[in-house]
Amino acid sequence: MKELIRTLVESFGPVGFEDEVRAILRAEIKDLADEISVGQLGDLIAVKKGSGKGKKVMLVAHMDEIGLIVTHVDKRGYARVAPLGGVFPLYCVGARVRFATGQLGVLEVDQREDTSKTPTLDQLYLDVGATSKADCPVKVGDVAIFHQRLESVGGRPAAERLIAKSLDDRIGCAILIETLRRLKQTPHEVYFVFSVQEETTSVGARTAAYRIDPDLALAIDVTGTGDTPKAQPMAVEMGQGPAIKVRDAGMIADPRVKNWMVQRAQAAKIPYQLEIFRLGTTDVQAVQAVRAGIPSGGLLIPARYVHSQAEMIDLGDVENAVKLLVELLKKPIIMSNE
Ligand code: CO
Ligand code: ZN
Repeated sequence: MKELIRTLVESFGPVGFEDEVRAILRAEIKDLADEISVGQLGDLIAVKKGSGKGKKVMLVAHMDEIGLIVTHVDKRGYARVAPLGGVFPLYCVGARVRFATGQLGVLEVDQREDTSKTPTLDQLYLDVGATSKADCPVKVGDVAIFHQRLESVGGRPAAERLIAKSLDDRIGCAILIETLRRLKQTPHEVYFVFSVQEETTSVGARTAAYRIDPDLALAIDVTGTGDTPKAQPMAVEMGQGPAIKVRDAGMIADPRVKNWMVQRAQAAKIPYQLEIFRLGTTDVQAVQAVRAGIPSGGLLIPARYVHSQAEMIDLGDVENAVKLLVELLKKPIIMSNE
């Protein structure tokens, strides 16, 4: 699974340009799914048919990652950029970026009077090594990602931890693949949705949900943690199990969905945590409002430094997330308010 994670996080998939990621995932699910389709906007949807006695379940992980789009190129060939999704200027100075062509560049900061403050994105420029606008290999509208490899940190006796860009949410994509691989039998019709454009509008998940019309939906994504020095208090730690969504900045998880997940985790003795996240949300914020309303929740991987070039996760949480998803899907789904 680690090699798949590596391939996924090192691939190119800024918001709206998820083709390379989709091709990788499509090859992975080719022999695992009963049906595969691609939506009008680019979502990849794999269906596991099941015995037909259960519910229609939608699991969604997003293929896209944050990135940059070129807005202007000056006479000397320096580019200015705008964000695709939640890009933090604090993480940008000195960063290497990569375009679809393989072209690299470095983000640097304008001379400023007051260097005590974090620069804004408008104070950054992109240097791709050009000598003039005419020979600049990048044009207005071209999109780039942060250029970083996956690395392993930690290790024995502590758990193995990974740092990489776009673990948000390629780790969710890898979890869906592994769940599809391990789910031998299910009463449910399970839709594994690899969505586009989560980082800006969730338009991919929203339209996929309309098409599928599921009985319930779960986002498989990352969440924050409260386990770093002077972190905002949050009862989620890396390595203590996947987090079951209770509430985030965009929604409240359906209590019946949350309760079902908690009960299954307890019954199967799989470690879990409860997620109350004040800074972000997921695709199911959009999904829950589709048609007449879709009961929704989520299973999240605790991650440090989300939207940086070195997001960090614990592989133990990933394994427990797969285990819990298989457990949730192989049995009938009972949703109650208790
Ligand atoms: Co994100
Ligand atoms: Zn995400």
